[in-house]
Amino acid sequence: MAIREIGIIVNGATGRIGSTQHLAHALVPMRAEGGLPAGDDRIMPRLLLLGRDRDRVAAVARAHGMAEWTTDLGAALASPEFSIFFDAAATKQRVATLTKAIAAGKHIYTEKPVAPTAEQGLALLHAAEKAGLKAGAVEDKVYLPGLQKIAQLARNGFFGRITGFRLDFGWWVFDGIEAPSQRPSWNYHSSGGGGLTLDMYPHWRYIIEDIVGRVRRVVTSATTALGERADEDGKRFAVDVDDRSITLAELENGAVGTIISSWATRVRRDDLMTLQIDGTGGSAVAGLHRCWMQSRSETPAVRHFNPDKDIGADYRADWREFIGEVRKTNPYRVGWEEFLRHVVIGAPLRGTLAAGVRDVQFAEACKRSASERKWVDVDESSA
Ligand SMILES: NC(=O)c1ccc[n+]([C@@H]2O[C@H](COP(=O)([O-])OP(=O)(O)OC[C@H]3O[C@@H](n4cnc5c(N)ncnc54)[C@H](O)[C@@H]3O)[C@@H](O)[C@H]2O)c1
Repeated sequence: MAIREIGIIVNGATGRIGSTQHLAHALVPMRAEGGLPAGDDRIMPRLLLLGRDRDRVAAVARAHGMAEWTTDLGAALASPEFSIFFDAAATKQRVATLTKAIAAGKHIYTEKPVAPTAEQGLALLHAAEKAGLKAGAVEDKVYLPGLQKIAQLARNGFFGRITGFRLDFGWWVFDGIEAPSQRPSWNYHSSGGGGLTLDMYPHWRYIIEDIVGRVRRVVTSATTALGERADEDGKRFAVDVDDRSITLAELENGAVGTIISSWATRVRRDDLMTLQIDGTGGSAVAGLHRCWMQSRSETPAVRHFNPDKDIGADYRADWREFIGEVRKTNPYRVGWEEFLRHVVIGAPLRGTLAAGVRDVQFAEACKRSASERKWVDVDESSA
């Protein structure tokens, strides 16, 4: 067995998602375990943490026992020991940073959205292909246990003919005035690459297409529920992006579904994100971790509304939990394992950059529908 070291520049190492999911829950444990098994060998990530603020990057490096960190993007890209560039910094500067990384001959792995527009995403893809570089995008949500379970039901034909689906996502994100906001303020500026549709819809594309079916066309309403917010310094600003987006999606298999996403809603459902699929064979609802099912034969015959009296029915009692078999690895770590094996031993990759571009194409189609107030075909032909 050989240890195959691979150098990774981690950009945005101090960020919310970079420091937690990618470092603390994926790359750092992989190193602590002596590397990732790959064929007869083990892949050992060597990390160079990159950020803007010296003190903060140094603190993250210290917290994980890492010696190598920098605030100098140019110097990081110039170091031949690091052949992969990973971007988990704020969305806004992603295209410029990845363009430089590709020009420096680095394989790239990136958080979503891979670019603000599909055209920019395609330019990155073509540049990476032309340079013969490997390129991947984070598509973590399908590795959530709940979604793995509902995907398993779909693969096993449980739903029969799928007739519809419903994806519900969101919670209340405070405005930073009344109470601290749970999201960075750039999420609420168009100039910062913010907006719920651009931020969350890339996930909905691969979840729906992997589990339910390919989307043919969409119609979306995207609105701003909270027009004023305060940033990290308490400075108030006008929100110029959507924080509430509702989509009707028609799939190629004939199913029609809704996607309701909101950072201005209060949670009263099974989980922060739920996906319900209905079919002639049965229905199932998945949350982040759990999944409930009701087959055709278990479906109660609901007879009537009772306007006079609450009959006290517990409609959840007619569902049973589906345990299924799930891979329990952290979803972001699964992405890393697949990407590293892809780069080092040529294993197939699910979350390719092309898939990441299709995710953006979907978000773009929904945004266009909202601004032009009409149905829009999801054109995925180019990626
Ligand atoms: N896969 C997922 O589910 C998921 C979840 C959250 C965030 N993300 C993505 O990860 C990225 C980071 O999101 P986050 O919530 O961690 O944000 P964040 O603001 O917490 O972190 C962003 C990082 O980028 C750096 N940064 C911020 N503005 C910058 C600028 N103008 N120039 C250079 N660096 C800058 C910050 O220093 C920080 O290290 C976004 O692209 C977001 O879409 C993905």
